[in-house]
Amino acid sequence: MEFQNVVNNRHSVRDFSDQVVDHQTIKEIIALAQKSPSWVNSQPWKVYVATGKTLQNIKDAYVKKDAEKGYPDFPVMHRDDWSAETQKNMQQWRHEIVHHFENFDEAHEKMSSASTHLYNSPAIVFVTIPKNSSLWSVFDAGAFCQTLMLAAKDKGLDSIPTYTSVRFPDVIRQNMDIPDNETLVIGLSLGYAKDVTINTYRSKREDIDDITKFKD
Ligand SMILES: Cc1cc2nc3c(=O)[nH]c(=O)nc-3n(C[C@H](O)[C@H](O)[C@H](O)COP(=O)(O)O)c2cc1C
Repeated sequence: MEFQNVVNNRHSVRDFSDQVVDHQTIKEIIALAQKSPSWVNSQPWKVYVATGKTLQNIKDAYVKKDAEKGYPDFPVMHRDDWSAETQKNMQQWRHEIVHHFENFDEAHEKMSSASTHLYNSPAIVFVTIPKNSSLWSVFDAGAFCQTLMLAAKDKGLDSIPTYTSVRFPDVIRQNMDIPDNETLVIGLSLGYAKDVTINTYRSKREDIDDITKFKD
C-alpha cells in the first residue's frame, strides 16, 4: 500500500470479526516493527502474542474482573490533572464518539461491551519493557507500536492499542509467562474490522498550524 494510504487508513477498530490472524503474518509485522529506532539501539521491547485458547482465557478472566478498578503497570493520571489542551481534545473525542451513535444509551452499551470483551480481538500483541528502564524506553516502545500498527495496516489488518487490555497485568503475566522484571506497556489488538457503527468513527486532529512552530 502507498505509505500515505497506510497512515491515513489506520484507525482504531473496536469490534473485530472472528477471522483468525495467522502467526506468520504477525511475525512479518513484528519483523517490520523491529526496525524501529531506540535509544543507543537498546531495543527495550519484548512482545507476547496471545491468540486462540490463551487469549480466550485472558478474555474470560477480564470479563470476571470487569467491575474492578484497573491497576495497570503505568499509573493512570486523573483526567482533571492533564493539561488544558489535552483535556479539550479528550473531551471533544468523547463527545464525538458518543454522538456517532443513535443515542447516549447505545453509545454507552457498545463502548463498554467492546471494552469488556477486549474488542473481540483474535490476536493481542502485548508489549513490555524492562522494569529498570529509562523514560526513553517508553518513547522507544511507542515507536515500535506505531510501526507495528502501520505494518499491520499495510497487510490489510486493523488494530487498536488499548489501556483496557493491560488494566489487569497479573492476568496477562500469568497467561503469557511474562517475567516479573518486565513492565507491561500496552496491548495491541490485531484483526479484521467488522462492518459496524463503532468502527466507522474517525477521530479528528488539531490543525497542524496550532501544534507547529517554524523559526528560521
Ligand atoms: C496508549 C493508548 C491507550 C489506548 N487505550 C484505549 C482503550 O483502552 N480503549 C479504546 O477504546 N481506545 C484506546 N486507545 C485508542 C485511542 O482512543 C485512539 O488512538 C485515539 O482516539 C485516536 O483515534 P485513532 O486511533 O482511530 O486514530 C488508546 C490509544 C493509546 C495510544
